This record gives sequence, C-alpha cells and structure tokens, in this order.
Amino acid sequence: MSSTLDKNDIANKIDKASSLDKLEELRIYYLGKKGLLTSEMKSLSLLSVEEKKEKGQKLNILKKFLDNELLKKKNIIENIAIDEKIKSEKIDVTLPSRNFFTGKIHPISQSIYKIIDIFASMGFSVESGPDIETDFNNFTALNIPSHHPAREMQDTFYIGGESNEEDRVLRTHTSPVQVRSMLDSKPPIRIIVPGRTYRSDSDATHTPMFHQIEGLLIDETSTMAHLKGCLIDFLKEFFEIDDLQYRFRPSYFPFTEPSAEMDIAFTKKNNVINIGEGNEWLEILGCGMVNPRVLENCNIDSNKYQGFAFGMGIERLSMLKYGITDMRGFFDCDFRWINHYGFSPLDFSSSSGI
Ligand code: PHE
Repeated sequence: MSSTLDKNDIANKIDKASSLDKLEELRIYYLGKKGLLTSEMKSLSLLSVEEKKEKGQKLNILKKFLDNELLKKKNIIENIAIDEKIKSEKIDVTLPSRNFFTGKIHPISQSIYKIIDIFASMGFSVESGPDIETDFNNFTALNIPSHHPAREMQDTFYIGGESNEEDRVLRTHTSPVQVRSMLDSKPPIRIIVPGRTYRSDSDATHTPMFHQIEGLLIDETSTMAHLKGCLIDFLKEFFEIDDLQYRFRPSYFPFTEPSAEMDIAFTKKNNVINIGEGNEWLEILGCGMVNPRVLENCNIDSNKYQGFAFGMGIERLSMLKYGITDMRGFFDCDFRWINHYGFSPLDFSSSSGI
C-alpha cells in the first residue's frame, strides 16, 4: 500500500483543511474517480483471491476511516461558520429606534363602525349604493315627484344625463339605497346603509359632502312601536347613556307616513355640551313608517307589507359623541386634527368582527 494512504498522513491532511473547498479537494484526491483509494480498489482485480481478500479488507477499513474523518471535519468547519455568522449578525438592542408613524382611524369611520356594530347585533345587515344616483331612486320612487315643492327640502347637485338618459344627481341622502334594496330583494328586509351624501350647502354646521346612515325594515308586522324601541336602544348604546332623555317630534318626510324626528336632551355649560339630560333639545334623526306609495313604487304589496325607515347624519352624531365643535375639521385633512380626534386602530374591538 502506498505510503500516502497511511492513516496518520490522511488524518493530518484532513486536520489541516481550513475550508469546505479544501476538504472537497481532499475527498476528490482520495475518493474521486481517479482518487488514490479508488485506484487501489480498482487494482484489486489484478490480485489473487487470497491477496484480494486481505488487501480488500484493509482498503475498506481505510475508506470508512476517510469517510468518518471527512465528515467530522466538515461538521467542525460548518459550526465555526455558523458561530461567525451569529457573531456578525448580533443586534445592538441599545441603538435608538427609528421613528415610525401610526395611522389613526377618522372619527367618522369610528362612528360608522360603532353604529354598524349596534345595528348588526339587532339583525340588520349592511348595504351600499353609488354616490351618483338616478333622479328616480333619489326622489321619484321616494314619493318626491319632479317639480314637487318637497324637492326644495334638499339642495341638490344635479348632473345632466346624456340627451336620451334620465337626469342624475349626487345622492342627497342614503334613502335611494332603500329603493335599490326593495327593487332587488323580497321582504323581509332589514338593512342599514352608511355612506357619503351631497347637498349644495357650506357653513360651520354644513359641508357639501357629508355622511348619513339609513335604516330600513320591511316585514308584515312591524309597527311604530318597533321603530321607537329600535332607535331608543340604538341611541342609548351609541352615547353609552342608560337614562338618555329623548323625544319623538311629529315631522314630515314624503317617503314616510307618519313621520317623526327624534331629539335628545342636552345642557350647555361654559361652551361644553352635555348630552343626555337638560331642557334643551337637539335634533338627531328622521324616521317614520314607510309610505305605502314608496312600497308600491318598488313593487312591494302595501296591503301585505309594512315597515319603518330612519336616517341620521354621522357628522352630527360624531360631534356630539366625541366633543368636536367645528364640522369643517372633519374634511381639512390636518394631521394635528386627526392625531387629536382620531382613534388608534388597535383600540377598536367589535362584536360583529368589523
Ligand atoms: N332621508 C332623510 C333625510 O336625509 C332622513 C330619513 C330617512 C327620514 C328615512 C325618514 C326616514 O333628511
């Protein structure tokens, strides 16, 4: 056997290998196709049976030894590499952190989530509709024919339709989604509709774009008593005041009969509004039993079905709940304002999972 296949010599060489590449070179040197040990193995065929047996055994032992030594050294080199990597990647936890900016939830969104949450627990589902509506859905179907004085209740942005098309409007309220739902589905219907609405109006308490939430319930048996119970429960929960003082005041809407507005009591001390009790009243929402004419306009049999509807401004509800005094702040996109009045996304928890 050649001296270069001496165990000590092999162990020495492997021990000196300082990288995986060097180790691979050694493996090829001994065990590659033309490697030393491989050639010795090949030459066995030239020997007599006796010699073959003896030398074969030695070579096999040597091969096992080589495999073993190579593997041991490979593990050592790899462990050293890992240790070095860990050392070089060490994180310095004492370094100052980079500033990062967390967004805030706008009070309008917060109110919408909260209102949805309350009505969802009463079995209402959420619907939506387009901001640009047909004249029919926004007015005519809701019992406000064209040229009727009731149209003047809402300062409307009209968008002329194409010559052969019906006129379009920026919806003045969320009520057209009632019409869409009644035309698209059969009673029982139990929906709420949050969304943007538009009126040609602008001062400290009006903005041309604002938000409403609409409710509609149609079935065979619901009455004004259900309407009252539903809205009283809602307002108590929204303002988190159990003994909230409220009143229903007769009113007029073309699409409901009878109609009412709901007021809540408040007091004002040092320019701070206190909701819930007192002898001043704040108008908070409009409501009523759906006018049978509206049901008929939406192909619902008014002899069989009845129900109620309500609508309210989300800006006003938010101003009262969160103590915001000027409505224009809602839409100024001022970071200082949203930082002050906004809500952390991590704080909102909802039973309906919204
Ligand atoms: N749509 C009405 C408004 O914007 C509110 C309302 C909705 C009143 C539903 C009664 C019933 O003034």
